[in-house]
Amino acid sequence: MGLTIALNRGRILKECLPLITAAGYAPAESLDGSRKLVFPTVTGGHRLIVVRGSDVPTYVEYGAADVGIVGKDTLLEHDTAGFYECLDLGIGRCRLMTAAPVGVDISRGPLRVATKFVRAARRYFEAQGRQVVIIPLAGAMEIAPLMNLADCIVDIVDTGNTLKANGLEALETIAEISSRVIVNRASMKLKFDEVQAFIDGLRAQAARLAPAAPGASRA
Ligand code: PRP
Repeated sequence: MGLTIALNRGRILKECLPLITAAGYAPAESLDGSRKLVFPTVTGGHRLIVVRGSDVPTYVEYGAADVGIVGKDTLLEHDTAGFYECLDLGIGRCRLMTAAPVGVDISRGPLRVATKFVRAARRYFEAQGRQVVIIPLAGAMEIAPLMNLADCIVDIVDTGNTLKANGLEALETIAEISSRVIVNRASMKLKFDEVQAFIDGLRAQAARLAPAAPGASRA
């Protein structure tokens, strides 16, 4: 029985496709520029589905996909009880960080925090005993402090160029991020051999191909 493999569209996809291909799960046609979202694999009778990162855990949790590849930043926002997190691929490396306008001290006082990483941000500031108001945004968090919507942001930082371009500086690291393989709980039992082969194949290719240095790539 083949696997349904959920992939995070966008930059993670670009980085994980060489791994997937080298491990024997190459799509039968090119994903580049295609409007299709479901691709059979060349061999093995598997299929790849390409969805938004935040939807990968949902597909895997409900068993619509057996396995998925998704950034740890996304997993931090998801209730991970519904699936197993089995493998760190070591690709898509970046950091989840706090950032504020250059020179602004946010170490004291009440704080308005703009982010799409609501759970991770809340956990982080709660652990510090900080009173914060979390302002959920879907993206482009960097302009929130400029528009006086927030005092700081919690966002993904890779090269730091986006922060710099918007007059912000990175402050504290909340989490080191990389791409992970997640597995549906029932699939782990019912398709054990296929799932294990998938994980072993990716582990071997990740060890061979993954960039070693953080910052060399991002999720
Ligand atoms: C991410 C993140 C930052 C940027 C950081 O956005 O939200 O905006 O990348 O990268 P840098 O440090 O190399 O500049 P992305 O482009 O992934 O789009 P998103 O808003 O959909 O997350």
